[in-house]
Amino acid sequence: MKKAIVLTGITTTGTPHLGNYVGAIRPAIEASKDQHVKPFYFLADYHALIKCHEPERVKRSSLEVAATWLALGLDTDNAVFYRQSDIPEIMELTWLLTCVTAKGLMNRAHAYKAAVAENEQGGESDPDKGITMGLFSYPVLMAADILMFNADKVPVGRDQVQHIEMARDIAGRFNHIFGQHFTLPEAVLDEKGATLLGLDGRKMSKSYDNTIPLFEPENRLKKLINKIKTNSLEPGEPKDSETCTLFSLYKSFATSAEVEEIRQKYAEGIGWGEMKRILFEYINEQIAPARSKYDELMAKPDHIEEQLQEGAKKARAISTPFLQELRQAVGISRISA
Ligand code: TRP
Repeated sequence: MKKAIVLTGITTTGTPHLGNYVGAIRPAIEASKDQHVKPFYFLADYHALIKCHEPERVKRSSLEVAATWLALGLDTDNAVFYRQSDIPEIMELTWLLTCVTAKGLMNRAHAYKAAVAENEQGGESDPDKGITMGLFSYPVLMAADILMFNADKVPVGRDQVQHIEMARDIAGRFNHIFGQHFTLPEAVLDEKGATLLGLDGRKMSKSYDNTIPLFEPENRLKKLINKIKTNSLEPGEPKDSETCTLFSLYKSFATSAEVEEIRQKYAEGIGWGEMKRILFEYINEQIAPARSKYDELMAKPDHIEEQLQEGAKKARAISTPFLQELRQAVGISRISA
């Protein structure tokens, strides 16, 4: 039976945090061990340039993201783990797709529309102020990432679902004009990740600056957990677990029996200091082995680079001949053999 191709990218602009771990990394690593699927996971460094013009940061983030995935035990025998910019065919495919993508489709992209709305609300006379072509046409790049490997399923957060639909549209359009070349991908939503809360009680996200980095040293992790916002109820007063950030974090790590036990303690009035201690110890214990692996890997960037090169080799074994086929299909080829 043909294995289902599962593909996802991680934009390299920041340091992986607990929200990324629970929502995206942990399920992806689990999936990498499933012999019924063929995972393609990549560092989306071209995507990083859309929002980040700090070269050191992009570079550092690529290293951190790669080290994180490897430290957490990604099965690189089954999964193809690579860096987008090592696959030049993706860029070339981006152009082939750009030429069949309706501009109107891009006008409707949420990320672009949000940027325009922000300009308009700010009283800007030019609605496109500060918006690059990178931001505008980024769904085409993302479609190329996905279609290059004919992914069946694409696990993403809610904010990315529209991009998968656009990739389907673009694939359908290309197939219609040039013949059947692309699989139409499907988005797979991970609901759990969307609800992990950050230090201030809003969704944990880089853009809110409320994250807990996954591999912070132990003492920093403890400090950050102590900083999580709670209400002013005293120990002994019953507390609502469902609206509590600490509880939401605990739930993402613990078994359901453990969660029940803590829910009971909330009803009995557990103190915030006590709950923070329990949460820290619980997360720390789960993360500690991968954290030391991570620290080891960060000290051996050559090893990480080697792994990425291996991945690129496997990816290009597919993308190089496939792009040849696509070039033929659109009429770009040598005139004579
Ligand atoms: N744009 C995605 C994000 O910001 C990352 C990404 C890039 C991606 N290319 C992809 C995700 C292809 C899935 C498939 O989260």
